[in-house]
Amino acid sequence: MGQCPACKEWNTVVEAPAAASPAHKGSVTQTPANRPVALKDVDSSAEARISLGSAEVDRILGGGLVPGSLVLLGGEPGIGKSTLSLQIPLRCPQLRTLYVSGEESERQVKMRADRLGGDASNCTIYAETLLDNVLEQARTMMPQLMVIDSVQTMYVEGVESTAGSVTQIKEVAARLLRFAKETRVPVILIGHITKDGYIAGPKILEHIVDVVLQFEGENRGAYRVIRSIKNRFGSTSELAVFEMSGSGLQEVSNPSELLVPMHEQGLSGTAVCALLDGNRSFLFEVQALVSSAAYGTAQRSATGFDVRRLNMLLAVLERRAGFHLSAKDVFLNMAGGLKITDPACDLAVIAAVLSSNFDFSIPSDVCFAGEVGLSGEIRPVSQADRRVGEAARLGFKKIYLSTYCSIETDRQDIRVVKVADVPSLVKTLFSK
Ligand code: TYD
Ligand code: MG
Repeated sequence: MGQCPACKEWNTVVEAPAAASPAHKGSVTQTPANRPVALKDVDSSAEARISLGSAEVDRILGGGLVPGSLVLLGGEPGIGKSTLSLQIPLRCPQLRTLYVSGEESERQVKMRADRLGGDASNCTIYAETLLDNVLEQARTMMPQLMVIDSVQTMYVEGVESTAGSVTQIKEVAARLLRFAKETRVPVILIGHITKDGYIAGPKILEHIVDVVLQFEGENRGAYRVIRSIKNRFGSTSELAVFEMSGSGLQEVSNPSELLVPMHEQGLSGTAVCALLDGNRSFLFEVQALVSSAAYGTAQRSATGFDVRRLNMLLAVLERRAGFHLSAKDVFLNMAGGLKITDPACDLAVIAAVLSSNFDFSIPSDVCFAGEVGLSGEIRPVSQADRRVGEAARLGFKKIYLSTYCSIETDRQDIRVVKVADVPSLVKTLFSK
């Protein structure tokens, strides 16, 4: 254009790049400042981690909380999510915390804090459910940690559904994630999981958040297990055990000592398994009860163990070792309300079932670690040496392992017995 239509001057028009349309803002082409970087030039020095005042919590987080991370803490109602999240600031006096409660009033939180003890001077309570208000307060206060209790009670305006609905939960989490990334304030987001394991709410959050920690265990019992299910900054195979006491959750740094038998010698139906959960090795008790079926069809029930796996093991016992358990009720229980997924537990399950069925006791200084295959073979387990080490440390005198485990058998402190299949396990167990 030669002449400017506004001022009528000639040759004054210059080229100017068009502003990015809002729809394209943030895309790679529009932000030349953000360019691909050679991998070798990326700064990989460890992120500064924030310690949460509990060695166990720090460990499951992979060494502390990463600034700007969004951590989902899930679990059934009443299991201790609020307790743990309030305990953290109370035990870390240097950590300025904003505790947002959509469930309890300030008074209720205060009463809980009094019960937990510790220093409350660093902690600010905010009873609010409108997320925009929460974020506004958080931006003014700029805490070093923000706790949101819980995702189901928060809502954002402009989304046409009630708090706790899938749309609201997603929107709340997305905004919290943006807040965390922009301000570098780490956020602990509490999410309820209902009794029957319905985890629709928190489940959809799993790919939004950076870390997912999940509470397990019976909330009637004293023990609580926290498992890390997802962690963008550390290992996911971490597990921490806590005990609920009158003054909050206490760390159990050595779970074996609590989960191992607490009864007299000579009881049938129990076997100890040398378990590896996450990076922890510990021993715990498997209990089985086998009785004649009271009604036509036999019942199979398992607490803390996959009932399909139990059925498979019973079928192996029937077909490969000739024990007829099809007319028997079989109940299985894992000590301490633990959920066991380690296949090494198979051998202890089989031993406990046989022990109950024939009413003979397995000596209390004997433990097991082996996976059982469909043809009755006993397969090796991972990190057998660590399991054997832990068993020996706790005073066990004998451990049953698979023949195929490549591990030293001539130890002074513990006898390692290798078995190839279920029939040979049975033979060695009965032949004493
Ligand atoms: P809570 O942390 O409120 O569970 P959630 O937030 O996951 O729903 O409560 C956990 C349970 O623990 C509750 O039933 C009361 C009990 N409790 C204790 O036994 N000792 C304590 O010190 C506290 C604070 C709670
Ligand atoms: Mg709560």
